[in-house]
Amino acid sequence: MDCKEGHSPFSLQFKEDYFILFYMENISSLSISEIVSKDYRTALVFRSFGIDFCCKGHETISEASRRKKTDPQLILEKLIEVVTSPAEESFDFKNWPLSLLANYIENKHHAMIRERVPLIRKFLKRAVNVHGSHEPNLKKIKASFQDSTDNLQKHLEQEELIVFPFIRKISSDPDRKNLLLGPSFQPISELIYYLMVEHEEEEAIWEEIRKLTHNYSPPDYACNTYKVAFALLEEFDVSLQKHMHLERNILFPQAIALNLEKNLN
Ligand SMILES: [Fe+2]
Ligand SMILES: [Fe+2]
Repeated sequence: MDCKEGHSPFSLQFKEDYFILFYMENISSLSISEIVSKDYRTALVFRSFGIDFCCKGHETISEASRRKKTDPQLILEKLIEVVTSPAEESFDFKNWPLSLLANYIENKHHAMIRERVPLIRKFLKRAVNVHGSHEPNLKKIKASFQDSTDNLQKHLEQEELIVFPFIRKISSDPDRKNLLLGPSFQPISELIYYLMVEHEEEEAIWEEIRKLTHNYSPPDYACNTYKVAFALLEEFDVSLQKHMHLERNILFPQAIALNLEKNLN
């Protein structure tokens, strides 16, 4: 085999090219949620193209780019840039025990929501007081955030009081069957289904917030309160998307599969 200098099968360049070809060949058959589950850093790429990797994560790149009228090649190029860059904090959530994942979601993402909501409401209220008369979108943003976080309060309680404790039990007690019945004898799959519907409702509210805030870009004349409010909203949105992705695409489907397996044995 004639291997030109710099293109030997052992050179770095060759490995990189091969990886890119392999990645591009395979990635088109994967759903967006599968891509994000393999490497969470890709979530930022989908976010930057306005592609929902959580509730619409079942789509492939070509389906999502058709819907968003974006060039799929551009998305692929960005994905390659991200996955070939040195890894920062990257956890293999897909292979975590379910109880550990439930604890992680509760301690990190649920706690973040509870900590940030009063602060963001305060900043939005101040921004509306100062700029609300000439910026009608601010009032809409404040109302949407209120709706989202009122709904989230009930949603988190359902998860923490009913669904997560059941998930911890099935993942730590391999012999018990028919464990996943809620207090009203509602199958866990039904409870999870309602939680997933609520995730979709949340995603719709946040899609609207992204539009109203022009993707969290305050105008040039914005005061610091206005800027901080937008920065806090963006941080909240990023955390909520990751949180819902972990539940919707990893924790809940694995819990349902484990429950089915137990009841069949
Ligand atoms: Fe949650
Ligand atoms: Fe949830």
